[in-house]
Amino acid sequence: MHVIYHSEYDEAFLIKSVRGRWVLDSRGNPTVQVKVVTEGLGVGVGYAPSGASTGVHEAVEVRDGGREFHGKGVGRAVENVNKMIAPAIIGMDSRRQREIDMKMIEMDGTRNKARIGGNAIVATSIAVAKAAASTMDLPLYQYIGGKQADLLPVPMLNIINGGVHAGNKLDFQEFMIVPAGFSTFSEALRASVEIYHELKNILKNRYGPQAINVGDEGGFAPPLEKTREALDLLVDSIKAAGYSPGDQVALALDVASSRLFNRDRNVYVIEGQELSVDKLIDYYSKLVNDYPIVSIEDPFHEDDFEAFAKFTSEFSHRILVVGDDLFVTNPERLEKGISMRAANAVLVKVNQVGTLTETFAVIDIARTAGYRTIISHRSGETEDTAISDLAVGVRAGLIKTGAPARGERTAKYNRLLEIEEEVEKPKYPGFSVFPRKP
Ligand code: PGA
Ligand code: ZN
Repeated sequence: MHVIYHSEYDEAFLIKSVRGRWVLDSRGNPTVQVKVVTEGLGVGVGYAPSGASTGVHEAVEVRDGGREFHGKGVGRAVENVNKMIAPAIIGMDSRRQREIDMKMIEMDGTRNKARIGGNAIVATSIAVAKAAASTMDLPLYQYIGGKQADLLPVPMLNIINGGVHAGNKLDFQEFMIVPAGFSTFSEALRASVEIYHELKNILKNRYGPQAINVGDEGGFAPPLEKTREALDLLVDSIKAAGYSPGDQVALALDVASSRLFNRDRNVYVIEGQELSVDKLIDYYSKLVNDYPIVSIEDPFHEDDFEAFAKFTSEFSHRILVVGDDLFVTNPERLEKGISMRAANAVLVKVNQVGTLTETFAVIDIARTAGYRTIISHRSGETEDTAISDLAVGVRAGLIKTGAPARGERTAKYNRLLEIEEEVEKPKYPGFSVFPRKP
């Protein structure tokens, strides 16, 4: 039965209940889920994802400590939803996202959401938007972006995992394929899945069955040590699937280099070698010359705006230079980066900043400066698909949401397939979101 209280009744949008609870994320850790119901019986459920390679400037997750869940419990964060946030926003109009987000920020009162918790706040912020959309009977991407939300994102699929996401010795965290040379999202996804399975075959044949274990984001975590071995495997898999590397499927890296930086010695340690910024730029330069790379994320540590700027001045016409831990989806850090020409793209993670309102602000700032926006999952995820709707709703053009395997990753791709079918004339931007075809 469909309840017919509708948008003509403003009361329908008033928040009737807010309920937080703990649920599990994809790494088997507890996280916050929030359910918001409106008077019109619109329902929105939001979740807090969780990073492993978190930047030091991110919004803080409130966790309980102590013995339960090895200290990772979210009992306090859930209580903050039920005892602080709920009484403050019940009765408010769920369409007033900004007012609701600002109210939570004010109540928290810290710079990094450390009191109420970024996890409590982000799950509520997303749940409120979904509840309003549901009250209007609109899909979330249309609630965010209106009827003109018709641009599907180019996915960047992390199919070889290293760094803190895997138990191997690869220094770089993510080795991605980028199926930009197709005319629709679904064709691009099909090619990616075929490549993923070719990679699995190649790994099994070359390294044995233990090499097909997967890391946190569903990519394989083979016992490799060298960046070039991983990149060669990607190229071989693309070819084995019958596609052309560079022309149809490009490559991307997330170095997540804060973990590779030795502060005392002021060097990056890559494959046992100590590299200065200049030497590291040479290293990247050779990779970009030898492989069809279209994007490098976090090539330098999270506070090294200068090194980013140097690299960007040399490479922004060839690849996306993406700030993740550098910007942490934070408007002030992004403004600083823009004024220093530190990058040409920003990774957008709602839980890094903590609310949808601040996320939209970051996307606006990026767009005005001509920066590309990549909507991103976290390594610890849930079945939530809000980021798929967000990517389409804001016409981001790019999404990073892991390998095409494991339920919490496929949920996002499956939602995009659904949206592609629902939208009247879906568009796929292909290589136009990159500085050039490699
Ligand atoms: P995280 O990794 O979710 O563990 O932070 C993702 C990334 O670095 O892009
Ligand atoms: Zn990253």
